[in-house]
Amino acid sequence: MSFPQNRQRRLRRTASLRRLVAETRLDPADFILPLFIKEGLTEPVAVSTMPGVVQHSRESLRTAASEAAQAGVGGVMLFGIPAHKDHTGSQADAPDGIVQLALRDLAADLGDDLVLMADLCLCEYTDHGHCGPLTSDGPDATVDNDRTLERYAAVAVAQAAAGAHVVAPSGMQDGQVAAIRAGLDAAGYPDTAICAYASKFASGFYGPFREAAESTPSFGDRRSYQMDPANGREAVREARLDLAEGADLIMVKPALPYLDVVRQVRDAVDVPVVAYQVSGEFAMVEAAAASGWLERERVILETLTSIRRAGADLVITYWATEVAQLLR
Ligand code: PBG
Repeated sequence: MSFPQNRQRRLRRTASLRRLVAETRLDPADFILPLFIKEGLTEPVAVSTMPGVVQHSRESLRTAASEAAQAGVGGVMLFGIPAHKDHTGSQADAPDGIVQLALRDLAADLGDDLVLMADLCLCEYTDHGHCGPLTSDGPDATVDNDRTLERYAAVAVAQAAAGAHVVAPSGMQDGQVAAIRAGLDAAGYPDTAICAYASKFASGFYGPFREAAESTPSFGDRRSYQMDPANGREAVREARLDLAEGADLIMVKPALPYLDVVRQVRDAVDVPVVAYQVSGEFAMVEAAAASGWLERERVILETLTSIRRAGADLVITYWATEVAQLLR
């Protein structure tokens, strides 16, 4: 059947018809809110590169997490900024490290109202800003993959002990999921889930985050461990490897410039796929909207719908609470 019997506009005619036939819907339960907590703060501190985003104090973090839970947001992802950094990132697994304290606060406040996720990496905790201990002190140093795995397992155990439901390794070291799974199981946390940042690209879109998390590398970059933006097949391979190592959820990051990767990974695995709408994606929209060049809310909803349409089950987004409130 073709025109004039077929008229595609029939089902687009009214708002209620469009709502009826929408293939993709946004639900606050599918959103995860990233939150930054900085040791020693008594008041939240604004992040200049990310309007509306702050580094939280323990107290303001509790408020933000409660607001998210009340709005129906599915989970939060915690990032910690310690007061003291060193070569091995020792504060990341200290029992009184800032993320562990925050997890205990939120577990006490919220119980099962919100999924507590913890980003698991060392770049916020090392004095050199790389994602694990280095191979040497020299200028050609790189992250020591296998020594880093031991550190990640210890961080996972500390986070699980503090109440994390899900740990989310983002360091892109080979074997990290297997090492974390083994570490958690050996320490008596077989039920703590792993959300693997499986396909994490070496992206310029992380720029604004590095001010929020104070995690800019002091030399070099992350291209020798994060993925090359040119590679889609390799992203699927990363996802399969992480699944085989025991990942419960698989992440693709960033989201909007990598929607083809989201789709390929969705088609390749049968666990929930998470897409991270990263700081640069957020900052682009905020900056354009502040200049009056984009309709802010409309574009935010369009990006989230597109990420879900591409195949992401869950979306990590700095707009989680705002959009959840908007949708209600
Ligand atoms: C840490 C980490 C980064 C992000 C999440 N976890 C930064 C990086 O790899 O440099 C980026 C998140 C964002 O840009 O919103 N490994």
